[in-house]
Amino acid sequence: MPSEQMKSIFHRKTEQALSLGYTEPKGTLYLRETICNHLKTKGIEVTPPSVLIVSGGLQALQLISLGLLHKGSTIFHETPSYLTSVNVFQSAGMNLFDIPMDNEGVKTDLLGRLKRQHNGTLFYTIPSFHNPTGILMSNNRRKQLLDVCSKERLPILEDDVYGDLWFEQPIPKPLKAQDKQGLVLYMGSMSKTLSPGLRIGWLVGPEPVIDRLSDIKMQTDYGSSSLAQFAVAEWLASGLYDKHIIHIRKELKDRRDLTLHILDKYFSEVATWNNPEGGFYIWLKLNVKGSMDKLFKKALKEGILLNPGNIYDRNDSSHIRISYSYATPKQLEKGLIKLAQLIKENRD
Ligand SMILES: Cc1ncc(COP(=O)(O)O)c(C=O)c1O
Repeated sequence: MPSEQMKSIFHRKTEQALSLGYTEPKGTLYLRETICNHLKTKGIEVTPPSVLIVSGGLQALQLISLGLLHKGSTIFHETPSYLTSVNVFQSAGMNLFDIPMDNEGVKTDLLGRLKRQHNGTLFYTIPSFHNPTGILMSNNRRKQLLDVCSKERLPILEDDVYGDLWFEQPIPKPLKAQDKQGLVLYMGSMSKTLSPGLRIGWLVGPEPVIDRLSDIKMQTDYGSSSLAQFAVAEWLASGLYDKHIIHIRKELKDRRDLTLHILDKYFSEVATWNNPEGGFYIWLKLNVKGSMDKLFKKALKEGILLNPGNIYDRNDSSHIRISYSYATPKQLEKGLIKLAQLIKENRD
């Protein structure tokens, strides 16, 4: 995380005014304009009235559950999913419904029938570098998903918080870039690229929806921090963000390569895994039997915090999410070698 550069942001000569009052309900106009320019590079053409600045992607989920959905609504989502690891929709009385994935993303063949059978209200998806599997939805699958959802009138919530983090080649355009009917609500965030502590994200959608959600946001917190909005706008408008992202991609790719190398060396007897093209995660599948609960406790004793699959899919007992973004390369190596040993000792 770029702490020193963040400090220097506040000393730059800039055109941007730093207002310390409450900001406009949807967020400062300057930041929303800057985000519209950023989204244009991904093929998303929107104007500031369709953009709401939120305090992180998580708040976008909260606002949607408060402002758009009724108690008892059914949210469809990929399984496994980040969504089951946070309590927003469940605590607001929504039902979550699992839709399986393959290595091209969510499976769309049964989606229409399931929507009609279970009265789905919203489809939540993380098409790019999915949390927890790291899967990148193919362009074909994106088209199929949009087709089915538009036929079935099933709105989509596209969570694109990892979309900037591709390693070797640019990825297919977001669903929102191909949305002709206002079917897609799109969310992004600075948490995975710049800093989670900034608490700045954005939600993009049809203007009446954004108006309604911005009212609720106003009643909730009077708007996101004007300092944090100033900083993000400055990162984006100055071009520093684009430079930073090149550096982050390289750093993450090196860590992915290191992780794959360690997995090859120490895990091939006990597990299989995917090779992510971006993002933070490798979805490790254990091929040996043994209690995940016991493994979790043993790892914790060694100072390793595991993210077992049942956080993301309650029926999963064979996966572990490996994140190569946070620990240093040394810690990664030490932790993974120890984990391989623990898995072997934990075998039934
Ligand atoms: C897919 C996904 N969406 C949203 C979030 C929330 O991010 P934020 O810090 O912007 O609230 C996360 C954080 O882990 C995430 O993985």
